[in-house]
Amino acid sequence: MLILGIETSCDETGVALYDDQQGLLAHALYSQIDMHADYGGVVPELASRDHVRKLLPLCDQVLVQAGKTRSDIEGIAYTAGPGLIGALMVGGSVAHALGFALGVPVLGVHHMEGHLLAPMLEDNPPAFPFVALLVSGGHTQLVRVDGIGEYEMLGESVDDAAGEAFDKAAKMLGLDYPGGPRVAALAEKGTEGRYRFPRPMTDRPGLDFSFSGLKTFTLNTVNAASDAGTLGEQEKADIALAFEAAVVDTLTIKCRRALQQTGCLRLVIAGGVSANKRLRSALEVMAQKLGGSVFYARPEFCTDNGAMIAYAGAQRLSAGQRDGERIVAVPRWPM
Ligand code: KG4
Ligand code: ZN
Repeated sequence: MLILGIETSCDETGVALYDDQQGLLAHALYSQIDMHADYGGVVPELASRDHVRKLLPLCDQVLVQAGKTRSDIEGIAYTAGPGLIGALMVGGSVAHALGFALGVPVLGVHHMEGHLLAPMLEDNPPAFPFVALLVSGGHTQLVRVDGIGEYEMLGESVDDAAGEAFDKAAKMLGLDYPGGPRVAALAEKGTEGRYRFPRPMTDRPGLDFSFSGLKTFTLNTVNAASDAGTLGEQEKADIALAFEAAVVDTLTIKCRRALQQTGCLRLVIAGGVSANKRLRSALEVMAQKLGGSVFYARPEFCTDNGAMIAYAGAQRLSAGQRDGERIVAVPRWPM
């Protein structure tokens, strides 16, 4: 079954073709980051308009790449949420219009399920069951995964998501949006041990997270350095490193707890923050000590993309799931 996957939940237009026998055939991504950078964050109306401009050309581009035509498409999957309502509506409208014209089934899938399953696109994919750490701009969750659609929430952030904390820390340090990769790059020049930031909620039992206190701690540190007249490039790098180390440590402590609690030694990390190198290596060291292993997607499939939606959609479409005639767009949608 050849599935066209469409992702338009936020600021990336992602399209891919996935075949359930041959695997991923083609994918294309258009990032709107440069357009939104002037505003310090995503402007929803601009995002929707840009998805309108880019989506169909990208669909044609992946067909050409894969040597296929529109009539080869046997099913269409699109991100139905969570995300920006206007942006979601663009993907849903195009998916349904194409599906109707081609007479093929269409299915709206959950964006976070896409992220969660993205490591399945790599060689040596994880077997079920596994524990997944989902860390994106909007979510920080630990989930036990027993199969497609069999998800048990083990813990989640009670306030900010890890990616959101990275983005806000970046702003405080005068870095552009999206902040995560920029904080990580700056942290590489930081001095180990110059600052020690708190590891929120690690001193009490449970698998929930909180990152808003860390954000305040970062702001106070930046302000203190600024007042003292020491907030130069090195000081900023030291703060970036202390912040990143605190987030990574916190996530690692909770992941270790989740593996021990479930007795499941396969850990999947997914979502934009899973591209973070320090996080990947800390989790690998932790899992190795427990005799477990860590799985993640290639960097381009950690952040938003069409391939993960095509893959998640293929699993569900081949199980017979499909939308009715209505476009599904759910801005807030728990998994
Ligand atoms: O999954 P994603 O592309 O979009 C959402 O569904 O939210 O995740 C984007 C988030 C942003 O907050 C971004 O700053 C963060 O992932 N991010 C990173 C890195 N790359 C992306 N955070 C830390 N280190 C990175 N290397
Ligand atoms: Zn995402």
